[in-house]
Amino acid sequence: MDLQFVLEGRRDLAGQIYRQIRAGVLDGRLHGGEPIPPTRELARWLSVSRNTVAAAYDRLVGEGFLVARVGAGTFVNADGVHRPTADTALRPRSCWTEPAVRPDEVPIEYDLRPGLPDPRLFPYQSWRRAVMRSLRVDSAGYGDPAGHLGLRTAIARHIAASRSIRAEPDDLVITHGAQQALDLIGRVLIEPGDVVAVEDPGYPPARRLFRSLGAQVVPVPVDGDGLVVSAIPSDTRVVYTTPSHQFPLGMPMSLARRVALVRWAAEQDAAVIEDDYDSEYRFGGRPIEPMFTLDRGGRVLFVGSFSSTLLPAIRLGFLITPDSLRAAFRAASSVTGRHPELPMQQALTGFIDDGLFARHIRRMRNQYQTRREYVREILQRDFGDWLAPVSASAGLHVAARLRRRTLPDTVVVERLAAAGVAMRPLSTLCAGNRRLSGLVIGYGAVGTDELEPAFARLRAILT
Ligand SMILES: Cc1ncc(COP(=O)(O)O)c(C=O)c1O
Repeated sequence: MDLQFVLEGRRDLAGQIYRQIRAGVLDGRLHGGEPIPPTRELARWLSVSRNTVAAAYDRLVGEGFLVARVGAGTFVNADGVHRPTADTALRPRSCWTEPAVRPDEVPIEYDLRPGLPDPRLFPYQSWRRAVMRSLRVDSAGYGDPAGHLGLRTAIARHIAASRSIRAEPDDLVITHGAQQALDLIGRVLIEPGDVVAVEDPGYPPARRLFRSLGAQVVPVPVDGDGLVVSAIPSDTRVVYTTPSHQFPLGMPMSLARRVALVRWAAEQDAAVIEDDYDSEYRFGGRPIEPMFTLDRGGRVLFVGSFSSTLLPAIRLGFLITPDSLRAAFRAASSVTGRHPELPMQQALTGFIDDGLFARHIRRMRNQYQTRREYVREILQRDFGDWLAPVSASAGLHVAARLRRRTLPDTVVVERLAAAGVAMRPLSTLCAGNRRLSGLVIGYGAVGTDELEPAFARLRAILT
């Protein structure tokens, strides 16, 4: 046997031997049919007891990595263990061959990517208390696939106050963030080959998800009023939108467009997803009436997320379902994630019911408003020649078009990354032929004192 053993310390020697032989079999250093030294010989060689080696061999035989032949000895299993070669290795479907996110090659000093709240200002102490309270024997089993009733009730009350949405707790399904809400909607509504229209520029995780479910994803342009309803293909089954704060450009969808889209959906027998991902942060202007409340025909599926109001790591969100889809959503949820972690759902229930959620949002809204104004000031003062910010009054990011085409936005962002600053190039959020060039600048995760040095690095790259 051509295998080097490295045993460390005196603990779990059998486990160490087991793992090293197992690794040798799996990576092909030990071949099928190859003899393994007798226990006595290996024990002497490694200065361990024979029982130790025997225990490792027994486990490897039990799991099928080795076979013991009476009177002949122990061998690497020639049949059971198959090491894939490059030709026969399993391959993902083509929609999964691109990595999810590019790993950061250099450490990020200032993270100005969109969609990130400030983790340093999260009320960890009260959240920890809420989680501790909910880790109880009555939250130990499976829960309701539509989500914890207490949380559905608390969210229904919250969105009634914050978004003027009238929904019963039974209309809600609690999800692992907005992303799982989109996944459930796709599973419930989309047949392979169906057309799903998405905003362009738009939110790449939504596009990719619908494509992975077999949809034909069609980018539809947005203008100053939001999605261009007249450009939606007539055979579209589902339209994905971000009406209160278009991702990534930031302007709200005008009332006329929202009404037109709801009417279009009724005429075409289509569904509209209203992704309301960061509407809690609105800093002026009139409240944007959700499409959900304009809809009388049960065509709009409203999606909310706690990623920007709490933390992205908490992975909680919800969708509001029309009556006609309620049972289907429960069924789809019960065979996919089943439901988000019950203790987390209960913790959030307490957090909302005790007023801590509303207090946290109020506090963060003030912070983000200050940061937003600061960013607008810097852009106006120092970047007027290079960047044209898109006018918007909500959310945790601002988009700014590059005025000069001397450098592609991807190059600007690459150079910024090398200088320790992360932003998102606008062109990478475009899906159609129209490639907008610009920067999507998040201010959720950086304090005002960090904005000045971060923008100084951007200035050095652009000038
Ligand atoms: C357009 C959009 N939708 C939804 C989300 C939130 O997704 P999730 O709730 O899955 O974290 C984000 C976060 O950045 C977003 O930009």
